[in-house]
Amino acid sequence: MKVNGQPRRALEAAPEGDAVVVIDQRGLPHRWLLARLDSVAAVRTAIGEMWVRGAPLIGVTAAYGIALQCRVDAGDAALDEAKRWLDSVRPTAVNLSWATRRMLELVRPQPVERRAEAAWALAGAMADEDVAVNAAIGGHGLVLLQQAAARRPGRRLNVLTHCNAGWLATVDWGTALAPVYRAHQVGLDLHVWVDETRPRNQGASLTAWELGQEGVPHTVIADNAGGHLMQHGQVDLVIVGADRVTGRGDVCNKIGTYLKALAAHDNGVPFYVAVPRSTLDLSLDDGLAEIEIEERSAREVTHVTGLDGSGQLTEVALMPAGSPAANPAFDVTPARLVTGLITELGVLAATPDALRG
Ligand code: MRU
Repeated sequence: MKVNGQPRRALEAAPEGDAVVVIDQRGLPHRWLLARLDSVAAVRTAIGEMWVRGAPLIGVTAAYGIALQCRVDAGDAALDEAKRWLDSVRPTAVNLSWATRRMLELVRPQPVERRAEAAWALAGAMADEDVAVNAAIGGHGLVLLQQAAARRPGRRLNVLTHCNAGWLATVDWGTALAPVYRAHQVGLDLHVWVDETRPRNQGASLTAWELGQEGVPHTVIADNAGGHLMQHGQVDLVIVGADRVTGRGDVCNKIGTYLKALAAHDNGVPFYVAVPRSTLDLSLDDGLAEIEIEERSAREVTHVTGLDGSGQLTEVALMPAGSPAANPAFDVTPARLVTGLITELGVLAATPDALRG
């Protein structure tokens, strides 16, 4: 998608083939910072500290981590260790272990001296594949948006989204926002309610910025406002992304997603989840019992970062110094609350038959 009118991907391979260049998303929307990751350690830091985040982008960045490891030591033991080390840094997004496993499966049959070259090419192919998959999700989601708009002729379509599942969370297009971008490009009159998404505010900082860069009408709302807007008929459908979807259709996504699904269910608002098939974890069934929920630092809850009056990025404390805070980063929405999964193959029901069949 575009930054200041120029096409840009969230991740680009350095032309020299010795690093991958990512946007350091901690600076957005106030600072445009690029980071050059030239080792598996740098990749792990970037994923763990959320310079890059969003399940598909985490996966492709980790694939480059394996490729960078191959430049140093491409032996089996070193690759196994690099995979284990990368996989543990953000445990909930299944795309991470999916991508590193795929890298190892395809690199291992190569002679050790050929692995670095093969791994670099494979990571690049995975990046391109991510773009194609998300474009296909956008096409299938566009049909849903057009159908919803046809049911409300003469009225702007209102979509609500949570967190950031836009192009910054992928290599390009995004998942939940891909249908929005496609719809905007074909002239559909639509508007996006953007949940701010406490505690890290990916909605307020990243989704709002992305949509603004593309000229998509949007409004940032406090996370607690969505239910009220649904009760008053101001949300036509909800589209979110996911970090892991089980074989029976339970959806794990950014904390707060479940509450939106409950409110949507209570108000008859369709609740869609846009996911590449790399986010499906068919080895799991019961999302609540089986998915590991990442617990992040309490500081993300107790403090917030923004621009001060002199234009400096500043962190300020929000609560009494002695008050403990908890920070579960994801929650699980049961399949019964999910209207459908928008995948690259089309819209699937959140049922074992549709996902495992
Ligand atoms: O903690 P984050 O910012 O990595 O969480 C991102 C989300 O929850 C997204 O909705 C999900 O990864 C899907 S991204 C297409």
